[in-house]
Amino acid sequence: MLSGKTILLGITGGIASYKICELIRMYKRANANVQVVCTPNALNFVTKLTLQTLSKNNVAVEEFDIKNYNPEHISFADKADIMVIAPATANTISKIATGLADNLLTSIACAFTKSVIIAPAMNCNMWENPVIQENLRKLHYTILKPESGYLACGYLGKGRLCKIEKIFDKTVELLNYKPLTGKKIVITSGGTIEDIDPVRYISNYSSGKMGLALADTAKNLGADVTLITTKDVCKKYNVVKVKSASDMKNAVEKEFNNADCVIMAAAVADYRVKETASQKIKKTDEDEINITLVKNPDILKEISAKKQGQIVIGFCAESENLIENAKEKIAKKGCDYLIANDISRKDIGFSSDYNEVTILDKNGGMKKLERADKMTIAHQIFEEIYGKE
Ligand code: PMT
Repeated sequence: MLSGKTILLGITGGIASYKICELIRMYKRANANVQVVCTPNALNFVTKLTLQTLSKNNVAVEEFDIKNYNPEHISFADKADIMVIAPATANTISKIATGLADNLLTSIACAFTKSVIIAPAMNCNMWENPVIQENLRKLHYTILKPESGYLACGYLGKGRLCKIEKIFDKTVELLNYKPLTGKKIVITSGGTIEDIDPVRYISNYSSGKMGLALADTAKNLGADVTLITTKDVCKKYNVVKVKSASDMKNAVEKEFNNADCVIMAAAVADYRVKETASQKIKKTDEDEINITLVKNPDILKEISAKKQGQIVIGFCAESENLIENAKEKIAKKGCDYLIANDISRKDIGFSSDYNEVTILDKNGGMKKLERADKMTIAHQIFEEIYGKE
């Protein structure tokens, strides 16, 4: 089942570590290559010798125990097809959620770009601590929640590592679930920048997170991804950095003919400055200054008019009358789907890690996706679009 796949198995310092020995055996029986990475505390619960014997690989623990010229955390991250952290302690979850990389396991997690499964195990009061729950929400990973029962600390409650079979099944599912294989998907993200002069510009609050979540998800689902973005992004898929709406239009047009699907999550400026000053505009004695703006090309509308089998998807950012305006917009733009989000809310939309959207289709269909982190929303969008093919 797992031939040719490398599983990076992260083990952290919890009593449930002993159960992971059986998980390694299951992976090995399915022909996977298992690379175990432990936190130093994990070795208080299970020995290196046991893990090495079962995985038939060296067990990595120390960050600076470098055996070749490659930085180990990067080479481990590059070689593996999936990362599974089980058991995941409150400590390791919180470190990863805040980007801390103070040991080999957390450094690898920080550099890892493919699917990650986290199976937490801890005392029930730790599990219910709102800080831990908030940290888990920050992770765009597959979380296999702990189960209820008697815990090693004597408590009865939720915190016990989920069943090993569940971790195994989820690993197989994620490694083999590639419904977008063979599809070329182009995604735009970030706010465009329209120069006024060499030091000033017009832009908006788009962080690029929604587009990035779509691109990462498409990649995880097997697509050939091109992300056209105004932000600095370092990914293993094709990233094209652009600045203005006009740059974005050129980049989208270049990719369009070969694309199966284009998703315009970028916040494109509707207007640009008519004449960008070549020198910094000086302050004068006048109380007012006028800058003339001219309309930018509507990229979404233009590509929708040129469609030849591509699925074209726009986003719709509204601060009032969301659905009413979205219905009008999908008709005007001529795209196949329009994903409407309310940008007047602080808990979703611009810059937030979360979104809540309604997907409108060109035939008048509508589907609301409840508030969730942007990776989950991205996943649901692909399910909605490609589940119907
Ligand atoms: O980047 P984040 O911080 O994660 O925030 C995400 C988001 C709120 C920016 C995103 O979810 C979103 O709503 N993106 C679309 C923003 C926008 O420009 O909406 P609009 O309603 O003004 O435009 C409708 C569509 O036309 C969009 O797909 C836009 O990319 C496109 N457009 C707009 C103007 C233009 N000149 N050309 C275009 O192609």
